Amino acid sequence: MNFNLDGVFLVSKQLNLDVRETIESLRKEVEHHRFQYYVLDKPEISDADFDVLFHKLEKLEKEHPEYFSADSPTQKVGAAPSTEFRQIKHRVPLLSLANAMSEEDLDKWEERLGRGLELDEEQLKQLKYVCELKIDGLSIALTYKNGKFVEGATRGNGEVGEDVTHNLKTISVLPKELKAQVKTYSGGLLKVPDMLEVRGEVYMPISSFTELNQALTDEGDATFANPRNAASGSLRQKDPRKTAKRKLAIFLYSAFITDAEMSDPPNHFSELELLKLLGFPTEKHSRVAVGINEVKEFCREIDTKRHGLDYQTDGVVVKLDQRSLWNALGATSHSPRWAIAFKYPPEEAETLLEDIQFDVGRTGAVTPVAILSPVKLAGTTVKRASLHNADQIARLDVRVGDTVLVRKAGEIIPEVLSVKLDKRKADSIPFVYPTTCPVCHHSLERSGDEVAFRCPNTYGCPTQTKRRIEHFASRDAMDIEGVGEKLVDLLVDQNLIKDVADLYRLDAEKLKQLKWKDKKSGEAGKEKQGTKWIENVLTALEDSKTRPFPNLIHALGIRHIGSSGAEVLADHFMSIDALAHATQDDILAIDGMGPAIAQSVVEFFQSDLTKKLVSDLRELGVQMQVSESEINARAAIEKTFTGKVFVLTGTLETLDRAQAEKMIKDRGGKASSSVSKKTDFVVAGASAGSKLAKAQELGITVLDEAQFKELMGV
Ligand code: IVH
Repeated sequence: MNFNLDGVFLVSKQLNLDVRETIESLRKEVEHHRFQYYVLDKPEISDADFDVLFHKLEKLEKEHPEYFSADSPTQKVGAAPSTEFRQIKHRVPLLSLANAMSEEDLDKWEERLGRGLELDEEQLKQLKYVCELKIDGLSIALTYKNGKFVEGATRGNGEVGEDVTHNLKTISVLPKELKAQVKTYSGGLLKVPDMLEVRGEVYMPISSFTELNQALTDEGDATFANPRNAASGSLRQKDPRKTAKRKLAIFLYSAFITDAEMSDPPNHFSELELLKLLGFPTEKHSRVAVGINEVKEFCREIDTKRHGLDYQTDGVVVKLDQRSLWNALGATSHSPRWAIAFKYPPEEAETLLEDIQFDVGRTGAVTPVAILSPVKLAGTTVKRASLHNADQIARLDVRVGDTVLVRKAGEIIPEVLSVKLDKRKADSIPFVYPTTCPVCHHSLERSGDEVAFRCPNTYGCPTQTKRRIEHFASRDAMDIEGVGEKLVDLLVDQNLIKDVADLYRLDAEKLKQLKWKDKKSGEAGKEKQGTKWIENVLTALEDSKTRPFPNLIHALGIRHIGSSGAEVLADHFMSIDALAHATQDDILAIDGMGPAIAQSVVEFFQSDLTKKLVSDLRELGVQMQVSESEINARAAIEKTFTGKVFVLTGTLETLDRAQAEKMIKDRGGKASSSVSKKTDFVVAGASAGSKLAKAQELGITVLDEAQFKELMGV
């Protein structure tokens, strides 16, 4: 046999070249997905798939140290901070955590701890750990000086984060000022540290996430894939008022004290207790475990409970309790050696895609839904999953009859993640997105900047009608108890009502005719027992006629007008007639109202159907202006500031400009836009600029938001 040394050399060189190329392409791929996840909040692959890529890269780099690069994503934490926000350098870097993907990984970690701390087996068994839920949000560092919250930043790349102070201030559960002195459990007094940095996780409660996505779907806007992305997107808004509407929450898990009279707590569990005593929200399940077996028990126990919580957890963070051991063990560039994140296996399952159907929303947005062979996933049986929109269907090339991978995105709404192409049948047919509404068969439309296709047959499409009536009766609108999805569907299907105004034409006779569906068979025919429910519905309808004017505006379902927009319009125009006659310029002149809103309101009231609806509702006795009692209530507010001139500048956190102006006007004052000698007060919010400087120059009283509210007596 011919043995050619050159050949051997060539082959190995060739192999190494392949390895280098693989490493480089993996680095690019990982970098791309990090950018999608951290910066754009739009992950394209599941966390589990990302972990696979990341570990593959880590493994290759370990096997081939000759290709080390400090720029590799394995050497970084998170992603570069966005340049849209001021950057804040963290005093102590925010590290990530090493993962334990199984109980065996926890054992290996215990072994490493034993070696690192030079402990014998007995000592190792006695080691104390703090187990905490791993909240799936985004990490944040907050600074308090003399008890006052002064600054907060995202993790960014671990060294430098983004300044999101103003947005953090809108989180209601986050204390803005720490209690001066609080009692400790032992009865002693605890002072507030001169300087305190706390760290934790900002998250969006699952209930808020579901509400937000529903609102986005109603508007035909893109939804968030999971609560983590929603939290991140909300916290990184340029306008804090938008963040304020997103209902974020926070849990804190670490504290660094700088104070001549105080030092950091000696162990981590007391650190959590200190946070609690200072008034910070902490996660309630945290517990001390002795030995790694108790840690495993904790992880198993939480796995049975975590789906019942209003926040998403993807694992358990395990930390050594004794903080002196943290220093002894130190950290790698990526993560500390004294802590680990135990991750639950990804909640994904394979099943058959039986059909693709379409939901039609109140505004006509048409959203695709995957109909699946029932499959168990994260504690529930899943039969339907989201397919998001036409673009997603095209991207996945998903076809009826495919075997698909389904994931509980954020453990809430299942979604189709990918198609198992190896299981695709030879005769499968590409899915053709419908061009007509599945309910009324009207042609669908898609406007340039929207992801959703829409059915424009607003008043002729029965499903849009049902959802519009349901919205009208909903709690934030006319709040008609007992009139929900089920009753509305039956009333429309059985031709007892055709649109919103018909609700007020219902009487006992009509309601008695209603055929209720049999719960089990789904068949129509069974009467609902008794007549009490009829009485209740009719009373609720009557009561709703005098709902406050903003509720009525919201109930009309004008696109882009939610409950706060409705309040601003109600305040400004005071009656439906004035609002119906408003021009786009009139609306644009109101602070906070943009062109999309102005156009939508004007078009809504120009429509003949709206005119008919308004006149019908009026005839049926619905109150359509700010009520007398509300006007009297305003008149009763003391005119304490008659003749006083206020200038509002910068961004206020808890009030929008229209609300602040209203408070001033209600009290007899005037809101002006420029600072002069005649100005009595300047109210300065975040990033106030030249007006504030001018006020200081002229010696005018400057108020911050809290002082302004105090002055207004609210
Ligand atoms: S401790 C050096 N505790 O998980 C200690 N992190 O994968 C680092 N996280 O960046 C953090 N819940 O964003 C810690 N109870 C908890 C946590 C937690 C969620 C996040 C945090 C961190 C990431 C690491």
